[in-house]
Amino acid sequence: MELAKRLKDLPPYLFADLDNQKKIIQKKGADIIDLSIGDPDLEPSDKLVGYLKEALNKKQVHRYPDYIGCKDFRDAASAWLKTRHNADVDPDSEVISLIGSKEGIAHIIWAFVNPGDVVIVPSPGYPVYFQSTTLAGGTVYSLPLNKKQGFVPDFTAIPEDVLKKAKMIFLNYPNNPTSACVTKECFEKAIELAKKYDLIICHDAAYIEIYDGNDKPISILSIPGAKDVAVEFHSFSKTFSICGWRIAFAAGNKDILKGLAKMKQNLDSGAFRAVELAVASAMTDLSCDIERINKIYAERRKIFKAALETHGFKVLPSNATFYLWSEIPNGENSVQFCKNLLEKAAIAATPGVGFGAGGEGFVRFSLTSSTERLHEAAKRIAKL
Ligand SMILES: Cc1ncc(COP(=O)(O)O)c(C=O)c1O
Repeated sequence: MELAKRLKDLPPYLFADLDNQKKIIQKKGADIIDLSIGDPDLEPSDKLVGYLKEALNKKQVHRYPDYIGCKDFRDAASAWLKTRHNADVDPDSEVISLIGSKEGIAHIIWAFVNPGDVVIVPSPGYPVYFQSTTLAGGTVYSLPLNKKQGFVPDFTAIPEDVLKKAKMIFLNYPNNPTSACVTKECFEKAIELAKKYDLIICHDAAYIEIYDGNDKPISILSIPGAKDVAVEFHSFSKTFSICGWRIAFAAGNKDILKGLAKMKQNLDSGAFRAVELAVASAMTDLSCDIERINKIYAERRKIFKAALETHGFKVLPSNATFYLWSEIPNGENSVQFCKNLLEKAAIAATPGVGFGAGGEGFVRFSLTSSTERLHEAAKRIAKL
């Protein structure tokens, strides 16, 4: 059976080799410490699971959901943005629910990008920006993020002719894979650029609640003028450790959201209402659970960052996300480095180049294993 050209044209899956190698090593009985995936090992709180159980007893949740999300969910999302991020959005026209933010990110491109339109995509970056643009027939312009600039974009380096052809720009802070954060000034510059060149800003805020200390990551929607040009994607996957529940929302410019909603109406039927109701309750009274989760990641970050640095890794300083982004000490390419790490220490990590050419020379460690396993990983690295 032949695949459609659009799927065949996607670049080869860079992690396939590593996945195979992981399976082979596992079959031989190796005890692999998997620091390669962004899927939290932590469990959601009992209270949140209880909210879901309660919601399942409500009759109306078993019918088709509302396309843009139920009113309780949108109201709670609007209040959440106000209390946690000082952003004002109207729950009826400036918020829509999503079946996970990946779904919204993929679909917003289909709603606005015509074949040949340019989408400005950070490199390294979350692969869906690239894949969905390519599937939709758009042209990706890779916006380099580099160490010298703290993995924050230099908008002045984007050529004028690219900006004229561009329809959309993706930003993602706190950033996957680099864990970098941005200042308000970066968002202000992005908004100015978007107004000048008529661009849609899609800010992916999947990790906005995952941080430790006083440097709280900011929402682009808290910046005056953002709603003229921007939408922001908030995910609960990492915030409440519920990746499998598939729930998120997009908020911001109402016309952009209308376009996304139209795309979704044609392709999906909305998020499960019981999940929306449970997460609406969590948004109202479970912010304290985020502190529990963040404390665990902070402890893990401290342990593993110190271990890596002792062995010559230069880890990007950050108190956000659950990733450690490090330069590879001996200048090896990132795929080779990860293969060796798997073979010699049974530790799985993600090669930076898997997030785009801009990630070459770096490796991403995901802190989604217990402190005991991280101590064990540190011991194995010490023996390399
Ligand atoms: C940067 C970024 N954005 C979006 C997502 C998608 O999250 P979800 O679809 O679970 O909301 C992820 C998941 O890993 C991510 O890393």
